[in-house]
Amino acid sequence: MLNLPSSPLPFTIEIATWRDLNGLRYLEQICFPRDSWPLLDLIGVLTYPNIVRLKAVINNRLVGFIAGDRRDHQKVGWIATIGVLPEFRHQGIATALLQECENRLATTSTRLNVRRSNLEAITLYKNIGYRQISSIPNYYQDGEDALIFEKVNSH
Ligand SMILES: CC(C)(COP(=O)(O)OP(=O)(O)OC[C@H]1O[C@@H](n2cnc3c(N)ncnc32)[C@H](O)[C@@H]1OP(=O)(O)O)[C@@H](O)C(=O)NCCC(=O)NCCS
Repeated sequence: MLNLPSSPLPFTIEIATWRDLNGLRYLEQICFPRDSWPLLDLIGVLTYPNIVRLKAVINNRLVGFIAGDRRDHQKVGWIATIGVLPEFRHQGIATALLQECENRLATTSTRLNVRRSNLEAITLYKNIGYRQISSIPNYYQDGEDALIFEKVNSH
């Protein structure tokens, strides 16, 4: 468990389990109104082996979530999803989730997809060392392009 006392609201980063299904379901609907995962995917991300799944917790409430897995013979970590409830944003929670997930994946690099229009997330990723390496036209259901960002890890 990682404690971050300098943040405005004290939060902890903890391993998520199937018991977080309701909290994750709520977070998904709020954070991804256009692309929220179906229930089966949420159950999968909380239960499949070899997935790093972490939650940010404030007062026993799940306020942020990240999941990632290792691919390409364990060399590349992919962030499958990251979200923080709106009222808890801009406190460093996503940054802490990403750092802890990168550490636990322990891969040479970490990659993620992001909507071209998601400037808030893109700014955050750039500020913490991610660089765009490619894009996928029409990746999302509504036709928006995905940008692929990568961070080369120092560990
Ligand atoms: C993108 C998202 C995860 C960011 O979460 P967050 O917890 O607000 O992220 P952080 O607080 O770590 O960083 C956000 C900004 O707050 C700033 N910040 C961090 N701690 C801060 C603090 N104590 N006080 C003020 N600002 C702070 C960061 O520097 C960062 O600034 P930047 O945007 O210029 O880089 C969140 O907006 C979200 O859930 N969006 C909807 C879902 C989504 O788009 N997910 C990404 C899909 S690819």
